[in-house]
Amino acid sequence: MYFPVYRPRRLRATEAIRSMIRENHLRVEDMIYPMFVRPGRGEARPVASMPGVFQFSVDKLVEDVREVASLGIPAIILFGIPDHKDEMATEAYAEDGIVQRAIRAVKDAVPSMTVITDVCLCEYTSHGHCGIVKDGKILNDPTLELLAREAVSHCKAGADMVAPSDMMDGRIGAVREALDDEGFTDIPIMAYSAKYASNFYGPFRDAAESPPQFGDRKSYQMDPPNLEEALREVELDIEEGADIVMVKPGLPYLDVLHAVKTAFNRPLAVYNVSGEYSMVKAAAEKGWIDGEKVMMEILTGFKRAGADLILTYFAKEAARILSE
Ligand code: PBG
Repeated sequence: MYFPVYRPRRLRATEAIRSMIRENHLRVEDMIYPMFVRPGRGEARPVASMPGVFQFSVDKLVEDVREVASLGIPAIILFGIPDHKDEMATEAYAEDGIVQRAIRAVKDAVPSMTVITDVCLCEYTSHGHCGIVKDGKILNDPTLELLAREAVSHCKAGADMVAPSDMMDGRIGAVREALDDEGFTDIPIMAYSAKYASNFYGPFRDAAESPPQFGDRKSYQMDPPNLEEALREVELDIEEGADIVMVKPGLPYLDVLHAVKTAFNRPLAVYNVSGEYSMVKAAAEKGWIDGEKVMMEILTGFKRAGADLILTYFAKEAARILSE
């Protein structure tokens, strides 16, 4: 069917018709809101490179979670800024660690909120790497035990789901086994499966105070030009027990997102990372783009590319627009 028989513009004539044939929709249920928790009381420290994002003390975090819940957002993912950092990331798996305290407070105050935890060591190690370091090398297998302990301690504090983001080999299997051994057979794992060594994490490392103190993350996070490798990583994580798989970052990796959705019939998440957020905020502040409209276009684009879930700092703003 060709012009003049087929005229695509017929179905674009009014907003009513456009909305009738719209193929993809962003829903508030699709979003997971990342939050940062730090020690102290009454603290809400703005993250300079991420307008609208704060490091909250536990009490302030709980206040904000109430608002997140009232907007209909079903889940948060927690990142911790610990009291102290050391070589073995002790606070990552301490019973009274900052994230463990935050989980208890949130589940106590807002039981309906699904609390997901980021399972990684970089926020807790003195060197800022995601694994144990020896002679300047990031060790794989010894790190697995600490990640497994961290995940178990989050679940003991009441986490509803854990999300390993370290990119060590074998971590999903190690975490699954440890959770099962401790009776947490029903806690799902959302795996950061295809996580790239991206330059878009810069603002996050300010927010989480977790930049590597030497070198970079290229020996464990994926090389940005690779796609087939992403499919192998996803396959491994599914074999090891991942319930949800993730591609991260989002915008420069939409092809990866689409390929994963096509190749595996699994729930798929995308992480719309800090740099992607801050670029929109900065351009909007300058008046160069309409920040809200660009935000909605980006989030809907993730759905079109195949994402079921979106981890995004825009969640609250987008939820407000969706409810209008
Ligand atoms: C921890 C972790 C990072 C992000 C999520 N989990 C940082 C990193 O790998 O350096 C980045 C999130 C963002 O940029 O918004 N490993």
